[in-house]
Amino acid sequence: MERMTRLSALLLAGVLSVGTLAGCSRQAPSDAGASAASESPAAAETPAPAETPAASESGTASSGAEGDAAAAGGNVLVVYFSASGHTEAVAQTIAEATGGDLFEITPAESYTDDDLDWTNEDSRVSQEYADESLRDVELAAATPDNWDSYDTVFIDYPIWWGIAAWPTSSFVAANDFTGKTVIPFCTSSSSSLGDSGTLLAEAAGTGTWLEGQRFRSSASADDVNEWVNSLGL
Ligand SMILES: Cc1cc2nc3c(=O)[nH]c(=O)nc-3n(C[C@H](O)[C@H](O)[C@H](O)COP(=O)(O)O)c2cc1C
Repeated sequence: MERMTRLSALLLAGVLSVGTLAGCSRQAPSDAGASAASESPAAAETPAPAETPAASESGTASSGAEGDAAAAGGNVLVVYFSASGHTEAVAQTIAEATGGDLFEITPAESYTDDDLDWTNEDSRVSQEYADESLRDVELAAATPDNWDSYDTVFIDYPIWWGIAAWPTSSFVAANDFTGKTVIPFCTSSSSSLGDSGTLLAEAAGTGTWLEGQRFRSSASADDVNEWVNSLGL
């Protein structure tokens, strides 16, 4: 197991070295733009908006936010988890663009810089990564106020080892998304959205999940607004 953890750390180091190591330190949202220059062209690339097949009900992520989201709208909630500020900045831009409310997923025990040190195999994240049973993180508050009143829910998270940072999974597993359109999106140093949205949809088991979008850690407000406008909410 120790060897596997070390191997995983090496693989992750490879992924992150393509992007920006700054993404792993606690960085205020206002500093996020400053790391853009240190990102490689590959990491800085923002994938084009997804195509537009039909959305699917009951926890299966469909591809394509654009066309389907046009039928969504209504009351919008932007839910986010952010360990070091990048994802929070994107969530704030989306809330402003949609007029939505914000809800921060807050672990009962928040992550310190040492907790987030993926280069240390004894750190909290490394231990949680190595042992899936540790990833069911207790949350300070599991359900946002007035949850039933929201029709469209954005779920915003950082990528950790290729999947959604696990406090996000704890949140989706704890809530009923029936009747809601859910749009996952993430920030990462270089990884794509991958299966992260699909896995969250499976963990939720309810709701109409769209494919969503990935942004680089230091995504500009223009990048984010362009995507939000394409949703036609
Ligand atoms: C424990 C950990 C694991 C990470 N794993 C990946 C990864 O697999 N791929 C990647 O591109 N970035 C990875 N990152 C970088 C973050 O996804 C990226 O910096 C993100 O924008 C951080 O968002 P935040 O500031 O809102 O926490 C990882 C960061 C941490 C702390």
